[in-house]
Amino acid sequence: MTNVDFDRVNGFLYELDTSKRLRIPIVLGSLSRVVEHALPSWGVVPASDDELIALRSLAEASYFNEWGDGRPNPPSQWIRAIKDASHSSGLVGVDQGLNATIGEFVKLVILAMNEKDKRDEYRLIDIGCGDGETSVSVMRALFVDNLHEQIELRISDVSTDCRQRAEKSLETFFRGREHKLISSGGIEKDVLTSLDEGSVDIIISNAVFHHFTDESYIKRILRVLRSGGFVIAGDYHTTVWHHPVLVASFLEQLGANADALHGFRTFFRTGNIADINSKLTKEEIQANIEMVAFWRELSRLIITRGLDPSPVFEAHESSQQRLDKFRANGLETDLMEIMRTFYGEKIDQEIEKARGPRAVASAVYQASDEGVQRLITARTRDVLQGFPIWGLQKAKGRIHPGSDIARVIVAQKPLVGK
Ligand SMILES: C[S@@+](CC[C@H](N)C(=O)[O-])C[C@H]1O[C@@H](n2cnc3c(N)ncnc32)[C@H](O)[C@@H]1O
Repeated sequence: MTNVDFDRVNGFLYELDTSKRLRIPIVLGSLSRVVEHALPSWGVVPASDDELIALRSLAEASYFNEWGDGRPNPPSQWIRAIKDASHSSGLVGVDQGLNATIGEFVKLVILAMNEKDKRDEYRLIDIGCGDGETSVSVMRALFVDNLHEQIELRISDVSTDCRQRAEKSLETFFRGREHKLISSGGIEKDVLTSLDEGSVDIIISNAVFHHFTDESYIKRILRVLRSGGFVIAGDYHTTVWHHPVLVASFLEQLGANADALHGFRTFFRTGNIADINSKLTKEEIQANIEMVAFWRELSRLIITRGLDPSPVFEAHESSQQRLDKFRANGLETDLMEIMRTFYGEKIDQEIEKARGPRAVASAVYQASDEGVQRLITARTRDVLQGFPIWGLQKAKGRIHPGSDIARVIVAQKPLVGK
């Protein structure tokens, strides 16, 4: 790994940004957040905590600049362009798929909570509500069984324009019927910090966490969730930003200026792309290909719709990295553990029962261990399917099969005393 002096990186990015040498419709200042996100693989080593803090505040400023009020184009126009680009680049329905799945999962969790110890009211908060699609999808899923009556919903978004649109979408959805909506405004950090500890049952969020510079948001989520509460979050995932060699290839495919690209490659001593790709899974590589197609399309829309340039550098991570971060910060993501919080030992007993025929099975399939394994897995799965919350396992690979690009992650704050 090469070590790149932090000051030189800042200087280089600033120069690249202000000179517009890449000649693609992106704002390069936001590259600081990608570098912060993947410091080790970029070989960038801040010499002190102060340097890291400086980089982080640059990154935060670029996020705010991306979504905050006062931009030439309101964020809702961006959201429209993102949805359109996702559709026309072949990621058909990814956004809707993520939001619909979040709705479906919230419903499963509420049903399970009702079964265990029903409460009159559950507090939900939608972080980065955008123009309201996530919240509306959840309410649509709950509405069928009148579960929406138990929900107090808070929506929050850094953009006032988005929040107002979300409020309107929810009003339209409910058409005057009673519902409890609190628009709590603002930046995730401020909103979560202002809420009492353990005061939220479920946090929902779609296509937002990749905007956050560092993982401190997970700690804020853990603080506001009640014990046994859930975070159900959809997102786009790629590894495009993990290494400068991947970024260079990405920029090249977007049509970046050759000289500037050469400068980028030389500066970061990017090395061989095949070495980096060999460390990625098939799904991750596919997600990166799809991300290029998506950004090409979005770049085209930025130009044809006359939108202000995109802060393209989004600091995505793979879904596995996101899961690892959740776990490292103390959220439970193991579905069996989550199921035990609802069904206790019963679930282990049922699985034991299903495993009973193992002796018979291994006699029949003596020649094939794999055959036995398959049989047991299938039997176990049958048992698990008898527990409604097992429906949550459908998330993996269902929204956009074959690629890591769209996933819903379900995580639970462990029950106190466990
Ligand atoms: C891609 S949109 C997703 C909107 C919506 N969840 C959906 O799926 O349609 C991302 C949203 O996150 C919001 N956002 C970005 N950074 C944020 C922050 N730090 N705090 C609150 N909202 C933020 C943006 O304003 C934007 O509306």
